Amino acid sequence: MGIIEFDKVSYSYAAHADKPVLDGVTLSVEKGDFIAIIGSNGSGKSTFAKHINALIVPNAGKVLTAGLDTANDELVFEIRSHAGMVFQNPDSQIVTSVVADDVAFGLENLATPYSEMTKRVDNALDTVKMSAFSDRNPAHLSGGQKQRCSIAGVLAMSPDILILDEPCAMLDVRGRRGIRRLVRELNKAGITVVLITHFMEEAVIARKVFVMHEGRVVLTGTPLEVFTNKELLRKVNLDAPFSLRLAEELIKRGVAVSEIARPEELKEELCRLYSTK
Ligand SMILES: Nc1ncnc2c1ncn2[C@@H]1O[C@H](COP(=O)(O)OP(=O)(O)O)[C@@H](O)[C@H]1O
Ligand SMILES: [Mg+2]
Repeated sequence: MGIIEFDKVSYSYAAHADKPVLDGVTLSVEKGDFIAIIGSNGSGKSTFAKHINALIVPNAGKVLTAGLDTANDELVFEIRSHAGMVFQNPDSQIVTSVVADDVAFGLENLATPYSEMTKRVDNALDTVKMSAFSDRNPAHLSGGQKQRCSIAGVLAMSPDILILDEPCAMLDVRGRRGIRRLVRELNKAGITVVLITHFMEEAVIARKVFVMHEGRVVLTGTPLEVFTNKELLRKVNLDAPFSLRLAEELIKRGVAVSEIARPEELKEELCRLYSTK
């Protein structure tokens, strides 16, 4: 069994009870995996994400997170200790005026002993490379730094699963690059990552991509499998990432690169091809 299991999950918001926002979603995420969820606005990505840590429970079907049924009220805290979530707007996640306090916030709610708490906060800040900012006011940080602190707040709870709902949507290029690198490192260290994104460049760093459309998962595959499916991408209003489009144009012009979705790999191939050594 995967660490996240969705079995025929359907959901509609009370205000529009006749309109399913999730429509029979079945999927499984293996422990330690890195998945990306893509899909146009309103396709149900955030609603999907909120099901993982029991912020929303299904109207029909079942969600198991770390083997725990999210519909069971008594398991909510345990579920959230397994699966932590980072949201789009870094400002909406700031609750105090000191970075370290902000990172400790979730632990305080769990009544963690002080010495254990400071240790965990220090470690989390170290992991996201924000130790030097520990006594600063988070309001004065850049968007990327704020998101690092939000991630630290989740890491301090030592979750198995990190869910990021468009964490880079409000960041500049540099902030995005930093978050991307951090998320990759965290996954390498063993944490299961669910990254929701509308930046295709970001989705390519996942091992597996799920495409959502009108509340359903309409395609699953490796980034290359998904992004070379032009017909489907067009249907769901998504583009292939720039690196893949560039590789295709180069191939058309006779450059011997492979069809590739990840920018780093394309860069390596081009360097190999044109290296003078
Ligand atoms: N709190 C809510 N109440 C009513 N409808 C909502 C609510 N949140 C989202 N929706 C609707 O559900 C659909 C899917 O939304 P969402 O899960 O946020 O999609 P995405 O994250 O892919 O943009 C949209 O049509 C949206 O308007
Ligand atoms: Mg959303």
